[in-house]
Amino acid sequence: MAPKDKRDKVVLAYSGGLDTSIAIHWLKDNYDVDVIAVAINVGQPPSSDDIVARALRNGAIKAEYIDAVDEFVEDYIWPSLKANAMYQGEYPLGTAIARPLIAKKLVDVANREGAKYIAHGCTAKGNDQVRFDVGIVSLNPELGIIAPMREWVMTREEEIDYAKKHGIEILVKKDSPYSIDENLWGRSCECGVLENAWAEPPEDVWGWTVCPCEAPAEAEYVEIGFEKGVPVSLNGKRMKGADLIKKVHEMACRHGIGRIDHVEDRLVGIKSRETYEAPAAIVLTKAHRSMEFVTLPKDVTEFKKILEQRFSQLAYDGLWFGILRESIDAFVDKTQERVTGTVRMKLLRGNAMVVGRKSPHSLYDEGLATYAEGDVFDHKAAEGFIYCWGLPNKTAAKTARKKR
Ligand code: ARG
Repeated sequence: MAPKDKRDKVVLAYSGGLDTSIAIHWLKDNYDVDVIAVAINVGQPPSSDDIVARALRNGAIKAEYIDAVDEFVEDYIWPSLKANAMYQGEYPLGTAIARPLIAKKLVDVANREGAKYIAHGCTAKGNDQVRFDVGIVSLNPELGIIAPMREWVMTREEEIDYAKKHGIEILVKKDSPYSIDENLWGRSCECGVLENAWAEPPEDVWGWTVCPCEAPAEAEYVEIGFEKGVPVSLNGKRMKGADLIKKVHEMACRHGIGRIDHVEDRLVGIKSRETYEAPAAIVLTKAHRSMEFVTLPKDVTEFKKILEQRFSQLAYDGLWFGILRESIDAFVDKTQERVTGTVRMKLLRGNAMVVGRKSPHSLYDEGLATYAEGDVFDHKAAEGFIYCWGLPNKTAAKTARKKR
């Protein structure tokens, strides 16, 4: 082993789980490095023990815990919500948008500590390795990346044996057949019986929401206040972003809202079946879209949709820190200037329905829309408009007749 002052440092994305606990030891053994373990909170449930202390006991020279929840909300969740981000129209990207933030935090620590490498616990088959690796090199191209799980070939049992052999302290959790990732914006679940795309997800894949069949029979109403595309209040009460999301999450979970079963196209070419729970994301995205429908002109809504799709793809594909994503963000922000107002939602048995909307910038004009008294629409104008609108088709039909 190299002397301490000559040893390189590696910053490890550390969750406290089996893989990254072993990784501390494995990195020291295989790369002759000092390990700095960094746990980053993006709203996942806390561990039952002090994972920072455990990382130090397991051989890290330093360990720290970074609370990044508010940054996650402001710089990742809200931009995604403003873009109505939804990969393949189904997945609200909870896991995907947390990765660039985690990469950023790791790079900050690596810069501060003069580390040569960053390590993470992603496997070779997933999207997350791409998001971490590309995120890291986008922020500091000098850093090397080590992904122990792309290098070692150990089953879960072998990992446990490795831990025993080297005296690594692990938290023995109930063995779940699923691979689960959770944060404030969603819960992703794969593996086990879900690998059979025909098999209905058993109830135990759902960790957050009640079954809609067991949700209350009475609806719950909630008024969501938006300012420039961002939710700022619930039932008139102003709240901090993370608190607002948590509150919507609780309500939606209680009503069985936000369960998604999707076969998606991974970046590495594989189709994979995954279930998601995104109660807050589903409710807030529905509300946000409906706020846009009353405040934005038709051409903006339609054009924005193209960029929303691209935004979602870029976020999924690990290109968050790229000029295209940032430029789309700037466009989206411009469109949100008028997306202010209130949406009334009704939550009932797996469904989040928009039942009302109002805005100082509303383009909805009852006088123009009404079929009753007070109609201000110029009925005579319709005839001339339709004459011009249909003229190309009419001309084509006449020409086709002449030819016959
Ligand atoms: N398929 C999702 C994505 O690529 C989630 C990946 C993490 N899922 C998991 N169950 N560990 O963003």
